[in-house]
Parts: sequence; structure tokens; C-alpha cells
Amino acid sequence: MNLLNALNEALKEGFEKAGLDPEYAKVTVSNRPDLAEYQCNAAMALAKVLHASPISIAEKVIPYLKENGVFSKAEAVMPGFINLDVSPSFLARFAASMSTAASFGANVETKPKKIIVDYGGPNVAKPLHIGHLLSAIIGESIKRILLFMGNDVIGDIHLGDWGLQFGLIIEELKDRKPDLPYFDPGFKGEYPEEAPFTLTELEEIYPAASSRSKTDEAFLARAHEATYRLQHRDPATLALWKHIMHLSIADEKKLYDRLDVHFDLWCGESDAGPYVPEVVGIVKETGLARMSEGALIVDVAEESDTREIPPCIILKSDGAALYQTTDLATLIMRMRNWQPDELIYITDKRQELHFTQVFRVAKKTGIVKEETVLKHIGYGTMNGKDGKPFKTRTGGVMRLETLIQEIEDAVREKMRDRYEESELSDEIVSQVALSAIKYGDLSNQARKDYNFDIDRFASFEGNTGPYVLYNIVRIKSILSKAGGCGSDAFSTDFLPLDAPGMKALLLKLAGFSDMMDAAYEDLAPHRICQYIHELSDAFSSFYHDTPILKETDEDKKKSLIGLLALVKRVLETCIGLLGFTAPEKM
Ligand code: ARG
Repeated sequence: MNLLNALNEALKEGFEKAGLDPEYAKVTVSNRPDLAEYQCNAAMALAKVLHASPISIAEKVIPYLKENGVFSKAEAVMPGFINLDVSPSFLARFAASMSTAASFGANVETKPKKIIVDYGGPNVAKPLHIGHLLSAIIGESIKRILLFMGNDVIGDIHLGDWGLQFGLIIEELKDRKPDLPYFDPGFKGEYPEEAPFTLTELEEIYPAASSRSKTDEAFLARAHEATYRLQHRDPATLALWKHIMHLSIADEKKLYDRLDVHFDLWCGESDAGPYVPEVVGIVKETGLARMSEGALIVDVAEESDTREIPPCIILKSDGAALYQTTDLATLIMRMRNWQPDELIYITDKRQELHFTQVFRVAKKTGIVKEETVLKHIGYGTMNGKDGKPFKTRTGGVMRLETLIQEIEDAVREKMRDRYEESELSDEIVSQVALSAIKYGDLSNQARKDYNFDIDRFASFEGNTGPYVLYNIVRIKSILSKAGGCGSDAFSTDFLPLDAPGMKALLLKLAGFSDMMDAAYEDLAPHRICQYIHELSDAFSSFYHDTPILKETDEDKKKSLIGLLALVKRVLETCIGLLGFTAPEKM
């Protein structure tokens, strides 16, 4: 149920009646909004075929365009444009049918695709920092968009849980607590259930070990050996790894919950480990691999490449697997366990080359089928307000927890100007803060770098999350004052279609499905942000000019309330797709 389709259909009908080829009938949003809402440029193209002047062709269709009640204005203007306005009563009926349709009439898939979204990607035992924020926020929104459009979606966090950080922690621990059974080669019993360290200790051990490894070469070599032992499943090392995983994941879960980000799978690189030998086997068997300076590599460059794509390294000369190898192994695992039609990865755009290499090897070797869709969405850098890389006041990398806290503080401070202290519950503050962060991040086109400006994001005015929430809450309050009516369907008979701002509001509402098509096609949450900003504005000016609660005609009032209820439902659905919710009051 798309507005543009409906308009095109009406236009086609007019073309047919005028004896013109309906294939040419196509409306576009007018590039002169001061003259018309929509336009059709077909007469120019038809003129060449029919050897007639464009304006005469345009004029021929006009009488037929006003017949079916879709257009309230149809005009031919020089040199041959057809200018169109949509009729308010058609729009009202369109909006009313949205209110009873499933998913507001969006073009959901009739054949759901199975899609794995790989996002979040934190590295276990290292504190979550803002670099991982965008992947979580963008990924969660994309997952929700795919689900809304009727697909079968699996979100996988893909933990970095098989790397050197474990070797570093384990060797540091060995120096600090050498008497633990894990470090006794003769130990035969069961390793303890309880971890030999707390989360707080762990948070101190990793950075200490990491900085030690920068100057202490022997220590770094030991950490590499421990990592090797882990990857070859040495029982003592594996037992320590489990403790670290347990503590660290429990902590990460709390943070993701706070961000309202939820994963269906908590798989990680470690789960792909067993498939690494298979990757090596496949690249060798298919004859695609070759040795280069002791390393096993696959050439992936293609003639059409506009920049150099170096070979994909599968095994280093010391036999170690790399990030690429793990991703190929993960693909084998995913294809075998879930048979997805599509896989979408969300990371920093600096990983673009990595995914180009992995995808090419996967296709060439048949690890994924030719028709399996592989996509990488690379996002830009989140900078501070000053446009420089985001840092803490002391210049360090900012932890996600600190960032969230700072935003909540800023939001609370801003809300103090408007609300009584007693109205500022923690829950409301965190809901508003989340809208500020997520809307701020998502309203930017993912690929672009942008400046994270807490002050601007948390503002109740302008293109922000809190502004949208504020409007939803306003509608909620109108609905409750009106006695909660606002049934799913509303009568269009009593809408004051000539009321100021009414048409603009109906036009925005009716554009929902067209917008969703675009957001889905491009996997672009920023389109939803733009839409709800415009819809909020349209509601706000309509409400400003049209007294609804004071309306004395009961039918009219009911109809208006029904319309606002639809605006609210659409806005709430949209913020749900972005990953946040609105409070009852604010
Ligand atoms: N852990 C990785 C990082 O921090 C991100 C993982 C992304 N997903 C993937 N399948 N490679 O950079």
C-alpha cells in the first residue's frame, strides 16, 4: 500500500483514457513544491515518439486526471509538465485504511528471507568502548527493520573471544597468583567452579598486561604461547578462559540491556575455531590457494577493481589463523547451522577491505552459494563536539559506560529546566537519554563521520530524539484527556479536511510505506529519523492551529482523535525500529 503506487495507478488510468501509452505514466515528488506536490514529466518523452508538442500531450491527459478523485489539481504547464496535487479526501481515506492494515500497509515480504545480522562484535575482557557503540545501535535498528518487513532475522553478537587478550590476562595472572591449580602442570582434579578473580580485578589485569606487553618482549611471547594453547584447547587454559568469559559477558549483557540491544545468538570467534581446518582444506582442494613467503594465501583481485585488493591470507607462515580465516570459518558454521539467504555485517568502515576479501574467498570456494547475499555496512567515526576523535577529559578512550552516564547526566540537567524534580524518575531520564544517543547516531548516514554533541542530541527542539518523544507524549496526553478514545479505525467523514496543516499531516502519514521501502532497500535508519522528524513537525503545527479538545462536534472530535492515535502509533512504531521507546509522561 504505497502512496506513490496509488498515484501512479491513477495517472496510468488517465493516460489510458486519453489514448496514451500508460507505460510513460510516472509521478515524482515535485521539484517545485511552491507550484505543486507531485509532477509527471512523461509528455516530454512522449513528444519524441508521437511527433507532437509536449504541452499538447500534457493538455490531452488533464481532463481525465480529475475524474477518479485522487488528484485535486492537475495542470499542464510549459514546456509540458503535468503538475499534480493530491486530494485531501483521498489522503484521508488512505490514512484511515493504514490504521487498520497490518504493519500500516507496508510492503512486507511475502516470502520471508532468513537473514543473519552480525553486529556488536565486542572483544571479551576488554572494556566496551564507544567504538562498539555504533555497531550495536545501527545493527539493532537494521535487525528491527528487517524483522518489521517480514523476514526471519537472527542477530549474532560475534564476540571477539579467541584472541591474544586471553593470553595476556592468563600470563599476567600466572605471575600474580602462581599457586593456582591452573598453573600446576601436575594437577589432575577438577578445576574450581569459582573464578580466581573478580570482575574489578579482571578490569585492572587486562590493561596492565596489555601495557606490559608493549615493553616486555618475553612476556608478549608467553602470552602468544598461552593464546596458542587456548586455541588448541589445553584444559587448564580453557578453564581460565571460561571464567573470564563468564564474568565479562555477564557484565556486557548488562550494558547491552541498558542500550536496549538484544542478541539472539551469543556466538563468537571461539565457536568458529573448529571450522578453521575446514577452511584450510577447502582453499587447498579448490586449488585457489598458493604459498607466498611461507603463508597460505588466496588471490582475490578482480579485473574490474579500481583499487588494489591484496590476496587474502588464510594461514600465516607460523601456521596461525587470522581474522579473515575466522570469518570464513564462521561462514561455514552459519551456512551449516542456519542456511541464511543473506548475511549483513556491521562494523567500522575501516574493515571494508577485510570483508571484500572474505566475501570473495567465500564465493570463489563455494563456502556460500552464488545467490547468498553478503553485505558489509561500514560506519564512519564518531568524533567529539570539536570534530576530533572522541576522548575522555583526560585524553583516554572513553568507556561506553562512562558515555552513557554522561549523557544521562546531561539529559537530567536539561530536563530540570522543564520539569519538577519529582517528575524526573531514573526511568524517564534513561528513556530520554537513549533517544538522544540513538537518534543522534542514526540520523546521520552511517558511512559519514560525525560529531557527537551531547548538548545538541539531548535538546528538546530540532532534529532530535527527545523532540520526537516530546511529541509522542503530547499526543498521549491529548488522548487521555479526550477519554482514551482513538479506536484503530477512524472515520474520515468528519475530518476537517480544510483545517490548516491537515493536508500536510495526512501527506506525511500516507508516505510511511514509501519511506519504509527506502529504509529497507538501503538498510538506512536515517530515513526513519528524517520521517519521524517531519511527521512530528506536521503534527505539531496542525495541533497548534486546530483546537481538538475544544471541538464541540462530537463526531468531528472523535475523528480527529482517531487521526492523532494513528500518528502516535506510527511514531511509536518508528522509534521502535530505531530501538527506543517513549515514556508515558515527560
Ligand atoms: N570484534 C571485531 C572488532 O572489534 C568486530 C567483529 C565484527 N564481525 C565479524 N564477523 N568480523 O573489530
